[in-house]
Amino acid sequence: MRAFDVLIIGSGLGGMTMALHLAESKKVGLVTKRMLREGGSGLAQGGIAAVLNDADSIEMHIRDTHIAGAGLCDTEATRFIVEHSRAAIDWLIDLGVPFTRDEGSETSYQGYHLTREGGHSHRRIIHAADATGAAVIDTLAIKVAAHPNITVLEEHVALDLITERENEQQPKRCWGAYVYDKQGDHVETILAPFTVLATGGAGKVYLYTTNPDISTGDGIAMGWRAGCRVENMEFIQFHPTCLYHPHAKSFLISEAVRGEGGLLRLPDGTRFMPKHDERAELAPRDVVARAIDFEMKKGGFDCVYLDISYKPDAFVKEHFPTIYQRCLELGIDITREPIPVVPAAHYTCGGVVTDLEGRTDIAQLFAVGEVACTGLHGANRLASNSLLECLVLGKAAAERILADTTGALPNIPEWDESQVDDADEEVVISHNWDELRRFMWDYVGIVRTNKRLERALNRIRLLQGEIHDYYSNFRVSNDLIELRNLVQTAELIVRSALARKESRGLHFSRDYPDLNSEAVSTILTPPA
Ligand code: FAD
Ligand code: SIN
Repeated sequence: MRAFDVLIIGSGLGGMTMALHLAESKKVGLVTKRMLREGGSGLAQGGIAAVLNDADSIEMHIRDTHIAGAGLCDTEATRFIVEHSRAAIDWLIDLGVPFTRDEGSETSYQGYHLTREGGHSHRRIIHAADATGAAVIDTLAIKVAAHPNITVLEEHVALDLITERENEQQPKRCWGAYVYDKQGDHVETILAPFTVLATGGAGKVYLYTTNPDISTGDGIAMGWRAGCRVENMEFIQFHPTCLYHPHAKSFLISEAVRGEGGLLRLPDGTRFMPKHDERAELAPRDVVARAIDFEMKKGGFDCVYLDISYKPDAFVKEHFPTIYQRCLELGIDITREPIPVVPAAHYTCGGVVTDLEGRTDIAQLFAVGEVACTGLHGANRLASNSLLECLVLGKAAAERILADTTGALPNIPEWDESQVDDADEEVVISHNWDELRRFMWDYVGIVRTNKRLERALNRIRLLQGEIHDYYSNFRVSNDLIELRNLVQTAELIVRSALARKESRGLHFSRDYPDLNSEAVSTILTPPA
């Protein structure tokens, strides 16, 4: 058995931020199921929202977050995160993140350019051209890999948390996790008095998504199985503009393209957003994604178009070099023609319930980043608030751990594989994986009905039965671990959607098209 002071599961911005804040005085184990830099964070394009300029204010950022969140954002969480936004950006600047410069403009911060995105009333997004995540993650990864107190275990997949309770009067405590070593093909027991879920989101539950392959809801499912409540899982954010091309898997066209003037058009060139919302292309994402979905269904179109080609070539290439290059590789010159786009699952607004120090319902277990629900995002996340949340909560959770003490490690049993065989038919796993993602897209997408949700839940129950048999009888594999978590996460999404008897933010139901007067979170509690 290995042991660390703190076990962090996931090496995105949430996990790496915590590791760096802890490592001066704690031995940190950072397990990650692929390579250190892989995850949603490294793919982030638009940037990080923060109040950085005197023309802007904390109150305005809070207000924009609440408007996007359709009345469901937690007031205290929103204020806490926005108030700490400038310090979070200063930390990244001090670490050397190469943000895009803009000397001499009134709307810059310390010589850095600020861009704008949907739902923001001000230019407040600090960015590194259109590849902000890569710039941030590359900088942090160098520090993490070089730190003597951080042990990085790549290709290691956490499969379940280790919990125990001395007796019914004591709280349940977490002491680490069982972790599948993909290269060694065996399960390790990793012990720690503090464990952190930093596993990112669950976009892979859907057939079409901007998310990377790692986003399979593992932390949400592990937290739920261990006894954590989950909140607001029905609010899956569909990004309005994912590239539509047969050879492009999950490539995002940043919201900053609309922020810098990009216009949405039908195939005949007509603009359609102004008739859906007075904020037009800069309306919050739920509004834009629903409008695109409506126009595509009404006109029978495969996609709509995002047009920035009327801006000077140099402007487009300077602001969006990654998008320009990727589209050009696929035969689309965005300085000359509009970009074909469709909505795709992008962000999991709900997650494991935490407080503002990252604490979950289980003692010694923390959750940070997209896996968590702090209350910041409400019913619809404001663009670029996610990386900000990783930074602020990552630091706050690290400070909590540094101030906490725990008892001695109890006796923990090793993972037992003596009763299981090698899987007989891997095809069952890949078939079930495809089936789940397809019916979640068809039945639990942008527009929902009770009938479709019930249909999805019935199918989920059947899959859960099969997966349970498979899991009990065969040795674990990466695909089986992920499928089990995807199906668990899908169940939580559908049950939360069925529980909401209104349309709010990202949850739109044809059976309940109205907004209730009171905004209430959906909280699911696992069986005791
Ligand atoms: P991630 O960065 O996704 O990292 C999760 C980590 O957990 C990975 O290392 C993964 O391998 C690991 N992991 C998962 N499960 C396990 C397991 N079982 N065992 C071990 N390791 C595991 N937000 C913004 O604020 N601004 C943006 O501009 C922006 N652009 C985006 C663009 C794209 C294409 C996408 C997909 C998202 C974007 N977002 C953006 C959202 C934002 O990037 C994510 O919400 C954020 O990066 C999540 O960070 P995280 O640390 O929680 O998770
Ligand atoms: C984007 O660049 O459009 C993504 C921003 C975000 O998801 O916050």
